[in-house]
Amino acid sequence: MTEVGIDGIEIWAGKLELDLAETFAPAQDDDPGKYTKGLGLYSSSLPDVYEDIVTMAANASKRLLERKGLTPDDIGRIDVATESSFDKSKPISTYVAGCLEQTFEGDFHHANKGERKFACVSGTQALDDAYNWIRAGRNRGRKALVIATDTALYERDDPGEATQGAGAVAMLIDEDPDVTALSDAQGFGSADETDFLKPNQQFPSVDGKRSMQVYLARMREAMMDFERNGGDTHPDNFELIPFHTPFPGMVRKAAVLGYRHCIRDTEIEDELAEEIGRQPRPEAFDDEEEYLDAVKEYTEALGETDAYADWYERTVQPTLAISEQVGNWYTGSVHIARAAGLAEALEEGRELSGRDLLVASYGSGAQAEIHAETVQPGWEDEIAQLNIQEQIESREPIDFEQYEAIHDVHNHDAETDMEPLTTPEGEFVFDGWGRMGERK
Ligand code: CAA
Repeated sequence: MTEVGIDGIEIWAGKLELDLAETFAPAQDDDPGKYTKGLGLYSSSLPDVYEDIVTMAANASKRLLERKGLTPDDIGRIDVATESSFDKSKPISTYVAGCLEQTFEGDFHHANKGERKFACVSGTQALDDAYNWIRAGRNRGRKALVIATDTALYERDDPGEATQGAGAVAMLIDEDPDVTALSDAQGFGSADETDFLKPNQQFPSVDGKRSMQVYLARMREAMMDFERNGGDTHPDNFELIPFHTPFPGMVRKAAVLGYRHCIRDTEIEDELAEEIGRQPRPEAFDDEEEYLDAVKEYTEALGETDAYADWYERTVQPTLAISEQVGNWYTGSVHIARAAGLAEALEEGRELSGRDLLVASYGSGAQAEIHAETVQPGWEDEIAQLNIQEQIESREPIDFEQYEAIHDVHNHDAETDMEPLTTPEGEFVFDGWGRMGERK
């Protein structure tokens, strides 16, 4: 059967850089260690005055189509996943298509355009939709453009403010893909939750601590569902494990719990048994609290082992390299984790072709999805084209006063007329609400 998956990726980061340790922490009267060590974040990417979810999505897509030598006629489907939809009206993909039609010959009149909404997991749902569309043979030789784009800003003084970010990931989904092929093995963990909501308002309502618990609970369910559906979760069988990364500290918590689950009844547990014992079994305890204490103690000890540290260094740490510099991108977050992991692997000369990734997505509200992908022979050439590191390094650093002003600019309820802090170069820019869609 022909493989279907990700044939190309382009990433567009917001142009401004808020340093969390040097600029944000002092203004909040916080110890910088809370950000760098606790949350695992160094800086946030924020959009300049002329950037928004449409411009970032269109700029990433333009570069992707140009690089792959494609025109609108090659694309049969455009799906945008976003938590930041601004007009609560037509899909953002229509605006993106409008932008791209200003640059490329031809139009997207034949293309099926849509918008996916389920918090951060909707980027992966859009990827799944494109995969299913191609596998069902309804693409008639055309490819799908899947875009995850967000301005993930929180209300001022919300604890989530520390985890903000903005950027877009454009992915081309096709047969015989160059980056990764998706597998049919999938697992879901889904429940009606209200941990993080971004309803008809600019900033989310979030119960941060609860959202962390829900993330872990749904991930665990998804892992078990993945196993029930025949998915293999032996920790040594995956080269990289990109997680949805609201902040790297969240992934550290999820990774050790995932490892604990996956080594149960394996030779890894046998090897570690002498050092830390075996995973406590509920039937061995009369009292639930005692059992939970034993599990906590075991998990902490597991996290201190060399076996765990080596596994984490190889499979998870490389996936955090972009997130720690840009913050949360909601729908794009797990997709920059995949890109970061592959980019780090390329730099280290790791041979990944034919090897598997385990991709762990999450969206508040809440749903987790676990699926496997196999790295394809063309991955090195594709990943070598990413310029995200250059984008990160060339962002404009902002001071706290500028941060306050730019936050207001992106608050649709605030009145501002701030001048841009950077100069756009040959890219789509947002030029006013009155002329929505006219982007140059
Ligand atoms: N040195 C080292 N570590 C420090 C420190 C210091 N000086 N000061 C604090 N820390 C540690 C804390 O111990 C804590 O780590 P642990 O959780 O391991 O104990 C960490 O830094 C963060 O500190 P706080 O818990 O005090 O931080 P907070 O309460 O101000 O906010 C948060 C944390 C709740 C995650 C908040 O940032 C938030 O609400 N974020 C938005 C919601 C979110 O991202 N949720 C994630 C799951 S939901 C999801 O994934 C969907 C999505 O994208 C939103």
